[in-house]
Amino acid sequence: MSDYFGYAGKTVVVTGAASGMGRALSEMLVDLGADVYALDRVESPVAGLAKVVIANLGERASIDQAFAQLPAQIDAFFGVAGISGVHSSFLETLTVNFIANKYVTDTYLTDRLVENGSATFVTSNGGVRWEVPTVREELVPFVRGGGWDDLVRISEEYEAEFGTIPGSLGYILSKRLLNLWIAEQVSPLADLRKIRINAVLPAMTVSGMLPEFAEMKGGQEKVEAEVGPAGRLAESIEMARVLTFLGSDLAGYVSGVHLSVDYGMNALEIAGLSPDRLSWTLRGVLARQAAAA
Ligand SMILES: NC(=O)c1ccc[n+]([C@@H]2O[C@H](COP(=O)([O-])OP(=O)(O)OC[C@H]3O[C@@H](n4cnc5c(N)ncnc54)[C@H](O)[C@@H]3O)[C@@H](O)[C@H]2O)c1
Repeated sequence: MSDYFGYAGKTVVVTGAASGMGRALSEMLVDLGADVYALDRVESPVAGLAKVVIANLGERASIDQAFAQLPAQIDAFFGVAGISGVHSSFLETLTVNFIANKYVTDTYLTDRLVENGSATFVTSNGGVRWEVPTVREELVPFVRGGGWDDLVRISEEYEAEFGTIPGSLGYILSKRLLNLWIAEQVSPLADLRKIRINAVLPAMTVSGMLPEFAEMKGGQEKVEAEVGPAGRLAESIEMARVLTFLGSDLAGYVSGVHLSVDYGMNALEIAGLSPDRLSWTLRGVLARQAAAA
């Protein structure tokens, strides 16, 4: 039997490997013969991991300590960890979901990812429309804003302009930022060592995060009412399968893809068959909220 995925004996790092999608992904990668290094703020229950590194992606020093314990050569990196913003501040949400992933890539992955390696990130279907010019315009200062300290400062200045911004809006912003930033990394990473970079954009998925989304939307029924053509929520394993593909040899000519794993919900919006819910700019929403207050 051929190893079409090509993970056997490869060194793979998965963030968020303790729960939900990252856990399901890690189990698949172990099964496919990879040496899987898990990075999470809590212990991962996945059997057969090469190593678990406990770290907080919200803190730069913790990331640095984690990478001191991770291999010098990495074949595939999966940035899966994230927070919903429901119980975290705007800054914390931006930090864990966007700033940390950018920092890890700039500081460590550009050195450690091998020739023909891959980096695959989980963003969100909540981060679609990042390419709409008015939306993209407000993302650019963050995406091209520099290192960790610069991005924290830009985030703080942004919040100072509008007053306290809910973490849940920080979530949308963080996922849009990640989507634009991934597109901008395609050429530099290809030039560096033909490294591919892609995003998976999940719809609502059964995972540790789902209760927080339900809380934000006003109940599990509200979440269930928005499932679209699938008629059900996604399972974490269904995101893990797509992540496994994008990071593998099977996707050797795939880079810069933002793959909505949503059973067609985004396609329906693009086709004008469902209302477009996400073309708004954050600045526009915050200005309207301020005017109404
Ligand atoms: N579940 C959904 O409906 C949904 C929808 C769209 C996108 N997503 C995204 O999917 C990704 C995976 O989330 P999930 O749904 O599997 O949720 P989950 O809560 O089950 O898993 C998230 C994992 O990330 C880890 N993590 C969180 N903050 C961390 C930090 N500061 N440092 C280190 N590790 C941290 C958690 O410990 C956990 O293991 C996230 O990026 C999330 O934003 C989820």
